[in-house]
Amino acid sequence: MSAVLSEVECPRPALQDDIAVVLLGTGKVGGAFLQLLRTRAGAKLRLVGAANSRYQKTTPAELAEWRLRERLDAGGEIRDNRGLLRALHASPAAARVVIDATASGHLAACHPEWLAAGCHVVTANKALAGGTLHGWHALHAACNSRARYGDSATVGAGLPALSTLRRLCQCGDPPSRIEGVFSGSLSYLFNQFDGRQPFSTLLQNACALGYTEPDPRSDLSGEDVARKLLILARSAGHPLERAQLDVEGLVPEALRVVERDMFRARMHELDESLAARHAQATARGCVLRYLARFDAGGKARVGLAEVPPEHPAARLSGADNLFAFTTPRYRNRPLVIQGAGAGSEVTAQALLGDILAMA
Ligand SMILES: NC(=O)c1ccc[n+]([C@@H]2O[C@H](COP(=O)([O-])OP(=O)(O)OC[C@H]3O[C@@H](n4cnc5c(N)ncnc54)[C@H](OP(=O)(O)O)[C@@H]3O)[C@@H](O)[C@H]2O)c1
Repeated sequence: MSAVLSEVECPRPALQDDIAVVLLGTGKVGGAFLQLLRTRAGAKLRLVGAANSRYQKTTPAELAEWRLRERLDAGGEIRDNRGLLRALHASPAAARVVIDATASGHLAACHPEWLAAGCHVVTANKALAGGTLHGWHALHAACNSRARYGDSATVGAGLPALSTLRRLCQCGDPPSRIEGVFSGSLSYLFNQFDGRQPFSTLLQNACALGYTEPDPRSDLSGEDVARKLLILARSAGHPLERAQLDVEGLVPEALRVVERDMFRARMHELDESLAARHAQATARGCVLRYLARFDAGGKARVGLAEVPPEHPAARLSGADNLFAFTTPRYRNRPLVIQGAGAGSEVTAQALLGDILAMA
């Protein structure tokens, strides 16, 4: 019998130096996080509750079972945040953490309440921090010496984008410009778009490869990138509202409200205007990238941009993300962070990293 199996059959009693965690969301990221709990790095974490949108489990025996994710899909206690928090507070662990691996705005709105109740919150869900400025302020007002907010996974998945930005600010070297490609799917699309194939063909490929959301308009709208730019700018001390952001979505107005299948059938309607933008960029010796840019003067934009060959975004490949921080000390060439900006494993790792850093 393997060591892991015997652990499953005889759950360890919670110890006072453990970290008690409740996991909200057992989808791609939450599922990868459950896998991490079974590794040495996750050994100090005690799962005391887990939930999807319909069911939850809070008993040690059920939580220790194999295939917890599938078992939750099949049933459990009816969803109730209070039951999960009760389980968290009943734990004798030294630290208590709520992990939000959902995209639920309703759950994100609870983050300040959980922090105020003395629980750390670690999240991949950017709905609150990247939403209204009011929500951002509520969040930071609720953080205190007992309860911290781990948000690394909200921007760049596992890349150290926010931690680097905060370190620059702490060292008196705040960015005068934050720029980059913050979406894996849009990175892939424009890294591939060389005029030889229609944009809609590449979009179909990106959907088939799982690079886009089930409805690719979520990616093409630019709103996800906008939320990441808001989080970065706010983290650098700029209280930016969504209304101050100029966002260029790529979905033509006529295709914004049609059913998802209809959109897929009419994706070719994006081709003509994007082919023209590509030709213009090529004529000027540039490439097209879906860029986010914030200037400390207050200008903030998300949308298509022509970038010259020497720009770091021009050299991107695959579905990589890129974050470039121009600061007083990195004034000639920006500090650049590049790599996979999506993926369940790296995102789950960012959640674990935040939890371990807090504890
Ligand atoms: N996937 C990535 O590569 C990646 C990278 C960076 C950040 N993120 C962020 O991570 C979050 C999760 O992404 P994902 O890809 O794992 O999404 P996903 O596969 O769609 O999973 C979402 C999970 O959230 C659950 N959920 C929804 N509402 C809930 C509620 N009220 N209470 C408890 N659980 C609830 C869903 O439950 P049901 O199964 O019942 O629907 C599902 O288990 C999102 O905010 C996403 O933007 C993802």
